[in-house]
Amino acid sequence: MNVIFIGPPGSGKGTMAARIVKRYEMMHISTGDMLRENMRAGTDLGKLAQGYIDKGQLVPDAVIIGMVEKKLLESYGGALFDGFPRTESQATALLKITDIDAVIELEAPLELVTARMLTRKVCRKCGKVFSTKLYKDNFCDECGGELYHRSDDEIETIKARYMVYLETLGNIKKVFEERHLLYTVDADDTVDSIEKKITEILDRKLV
Ligand code: AP5
Ligand code: MG
Repeated sequence: MNVIFIGPPGSGKGTMAARIVKRYEMMHISTGDMLRENMRAGTDLGKLAQGYIDKGQLVPDAVIIGMVEKKLLESYGGALFDGFPRTESQATALLKITDIDAVIELEAPLELVTARMLTRKVCRKCGKVFSTKLYKDNFCDECGGELYHRSDDEIETIKARYMVYLETLGNIKKVFEERHLLYTVDADDTVDSIEKKITEILDRKLV
């Protein structure tokens, strides 16, 4: 099964993806995580991406599509695409290389996601996401890595990212609505309730 998560920044794509890939044994393909890994490693791709990410803009399609195509070569079983595709051209490129079973749109307003991102910390080593409201330690409970605050989790960048998301959403949704693949889930809910809503949709795909 191949599934896509779309949703504004901070809507919970990464949090839900971590649970869903374990449950259905899928490969987690997060273009945001891949770009941050490149930024940490100081690669040319990472240096190019940093400029866009810190302004809250999208990294060019050709760079993203090339990166995902390479990743898919090492993929096994199903894949969960988190934060990809983000443009119509990314969506059509993906549909040329793989079948998609469902697209889950996590819907959440700007005020909610802003509050979530201002209290988010991420593990430098494994990428696990935490909320400082619930987790007070400075080190990851899974791998011991140091937690950090993402450079794009600042109020102005959050607003810019949200606006970019709204501008591109209509075109991506159109591609998947036409194929009857789109499911919208209210992300203003508890993590457990959202997981339940998503698994109900995905379980129906498996029968
Ligand atoms: P990316 O890393 O994909 O960021 P994003 O889409 O802005 O989404 P986030 O990772 O910020 O949020 P999330 O939805 O994963 O929420 P999370 O689970 O962490 O992309 C970053 C940048 O890279 C982009 O701006 C762009 O520049 C570039 N990029 C990436 N992909 C690209 C592409 N395809 N094309 C072009 N450019 C691309 O949760 C957030 C917080 O909320 C956490 O603290 C979490 O603990 C908490 N939380 C989650 N769910 C709940 C809940 N239900 N209740 C309470 N708290 C919750
Ligand atoms: Mg994420």
